[in-house]
Amino acid sequence: MREQHGVDLVVANAENCASGSGLTAEQYRKLKDAGVDGMTLGDHALKKQQIRHTLETAPDLIRAINWPAACWGKGAMVLERKTEEGTPLPTVHVVMVMGRLFMNGPQADDPFVAVDRYLDSIRDLMPRPVVIVEAHAEATSEKVALGWHLNGRVAAVLGTHTHVPTADARLLPKPGSPDADASIPGSPNPFPGGTAYCTDLGMTGPDDSVLGRRVDRVLRYMTTATPAPFDVAEGRPAAHGVILDIDERSGLATAIERFDRPADVTRPPFVA
Ligand SMILES: [Fe+2]
Ligand SMILES: [Fe+2]
Repeated sequence: MREQHGVDLVVANAENCASGSGLTAEQYRKLKDAGVDGMTLGDHALKKQQIRHTLETAPDLIRAINWPAACWGKGAMVLERKTEEGTPLPTVHVVMVMGRLFMNGPQADDPFVAVDRYLDSIRDLMPRPVVIVEAHAEATSEKVALGWHLNGRVAAVLGTHTHVPTADARLLPKPGSPDADASIPGSPNPFPGGTAYCTDLGMTGPDDSVLGRRVDRVLRYMTTATPAPFDVAEGRPAAHGVILDIDERSGLATAIERFDRPADVTRPPFVA
């Protein structure tokens, strides 16, 4: 896909790598070696606590920006890029923010305010960095609202966490257009285009599953109330996500396209 689409930066949410919950240092390394430039986590961020050292030291791994300040790691990362000749390109800032609706776990702070604060903190950076926001949340409403809140101020707002891809990938209308009324206080956006948005990217994992877990186990639990280990499923692995085109001058997106692509199980890593 990198070659086919000329992709020059790959970001992946990696919170479910360790048998469905958490990420280990070894898996982080494996994903880096496979070509993932930056990784984000989610509500399962610390399920494998051995990730602590990596989370505290790696420049390209983040947890939620609106988690408690005392939590290990950080909530935003700056990914450097260069041309093939080695000339530096504008950096890409990736921010991961957790929703609050229907989410359990640590009480996250207001996600709207948390991203606003971050944008404020980088307001004077020149050249203007590209900012991608991941909205890790259960409720579609909260993610859609975050998209509008940030429209015209970041390149993309991309939802994760439900594992189910949504069909609403699009560029939000330019701020100021009649249907946008997106009350974006102080947005200085003089450029065409807007923020790329998708409520949920979906997961990269087994499509024949319940959000990645074995169908039989989940059905047993749901139909009989008898607990069963929710092992990770194996059926029909596929990659789900989006490819963005971003205008580096404006920091806004010019295209967003979903990919929903079955894995070729005749090739590594599925066969040796
Ligand atoms: Fe999650
Ligand atoms: Fe997840």
